[in-house]
Amino acid sequence: MATANANSNRRYAVFLSYRHADNKEQGRQWATWLHQVLEGYEIPAGMLVGVYPIHVHYMSSLWTDPTRFDPERFSPARQEDKRHAFAWVPFGGGAHMCIGQHFATLQVKAIMHQLLLRYRWSIAPGYVMPYQLVPIAKPKDGLQVTLQRQG
Ligand code: HEM
Repeated sequence: MATANANSNRRYAVFLSYRHADNKEQGRQWATWLHQVLEGYEIPAGMLVGVYPIHVHYMSSLWTDPTRFDPERFSPARQEDKRHAFAWVPFGGGAHMCIGQHFATLQVKAIMHQLLLRYRWSIAPGYVMPYQLVPIAKPKDGLQVTLQRQG
């Protein structure tokens, strides 16, 4: 078994597709009710527009070396997530941004702390996680990670 490296690029954590027909600011950004042309693509009024955060999270115009796992990109000195109001959107953005963001972050830290302390994590050699993108992005196979209790 290969040891999982927690495959921890934060941007893999959330693959959400969602729509914002009820949110003026998001509507302005994602053009759900006005006929618009965005970067050469014609979007008729009324068309549903899926927002694709993982694409945004890999845009080289926003992120330095976007595929690299580099937590320092969030450091006060670099603040790459602040380059654009919608550069970092795992919790959405604008008026309807997740109100549970900080609570959820603390929960994840508390739970991961226990799981990393108590279990040895592994994946099958060569395992590549198959993921679905819609209706909500997640591993297609339930995420085949084996946890073995330590001690
Ligand atoms: C890792 C965990 C979580 C993720 C990835 C997440 C993600 C999101 C996203 C992307 C949105 C925006 C949806 C949209 O714009 O249509 C949202 C909204 C929201 N989230 Fe979360 N969320 C998480 C945890 C939580 C928790 C723990 C709570 C409550 C304790 C919460 C409460 C809400 C609420 C109430 C909204 C709607 C806010 C509004 O419409 O004004 N979320 N969340």
